[in-house]
Amino acid sequence: MRAFEEGPATERLERFAATWAVPVVDSLEQVPQDSFALGLDAGRIGLFPPRDQASLGHLPLVIDFAADRRFAQPLARKDALARATGWKSGFRPPVIDLTAGLGRDAWALASGGCEVTAVERHPVVHLLLADALARAAAAPGLAEVAGRIRLVDGDVLSSTPPDLPTSPEMVWYLDPMFPERKKSALVKKPMRVFHHLVGEDGDAAALFAWARRQPGARWVVKRPPGAPSIDATVPSVEYRSGRLRFDVYLAPTTS
Ligand SMILES: C[S@@+](CC[C@H](N)C(=O)[O-])C[C@H]1O[C@@H](n2cnc3c(N)ncnc32)[C@H](O)[C@@H]1O
Repeated sequence: MRAFEEGPATERLERFAATWAVPVVDSLEQVPQDSFALGLDAGRIGLFPPRDQASLGHLPLVIDFAADRRFAQPLARKDALARATGWKSGFRPPVIDLTAGLGRDAWALASGGCEVTAVERHPVVHLLLADALARAAAAPGLAEVAGRIRLVDGDVLSSTPPDLPTSPEMVWYLDPMFPERKKSALVKKPMRVFHHLVGEDGDAAALFAWARRQPGARWVVKRPPGAPSIDATVPSVEYRSGRLRFDVYLAPTTS
């Protein structure tokens, strides 16, 4: 980790630290034994795990679309996520991603041309994603994709829900936290940091019920392959890809 650098990430971090009680460190040695800390890692905001949690490792959780090889190619129409969200030749639906998280699905959708509104309620996760999107917006090869993502802070289930765009073509996308995989050796340590930080989204069914009441064309829920559907109803169609399943609920057709 480098010492603090001047620049927008530093300002973002300082503003955040002034509002939230999260320690901010400028060297690994300063990371507390028993609590998470924020700091800069090569100019990127990172979340460092507590030093007494050996299973979480010492590497920070950082979001970096430039470094992530998954995003070397834009999402293609044949990919399960594209099919689940209803891409057609010359048509990319607007998407509201109600569970933005690390922004991977939002980025994949935007890479193929969707305008994505990404909502995240966890303040630290929101900070990491805002930092990653700001860096991407300033990088020539990534700025166009970043420009299709609008990050929104908040939770539609809260008493102060954020304003979201509406469209009859809207796709509502949900990817609530899965229970952590038992063979946790298979899960990379920064991802364990993410699971540890956010925990499980116990209100996922309520979020889905809320989304189903909004105008839109389809509702897509990402699930583990063997898991029941989010609210025990049968989806209109499902798409599978490796260790993922996308349950798709279509709006009733009016004739
Ligand atoms: C499994 S992660 C999503 C990962 C994301 N699809 C990606 O590609 O990186 C779930 C995220 O949704 C957020 N979340 C869950 N329920 C939410 C809600 N009602 N409003 C906003 N964010 C929510 C959690 O804080 C967590 O960061």
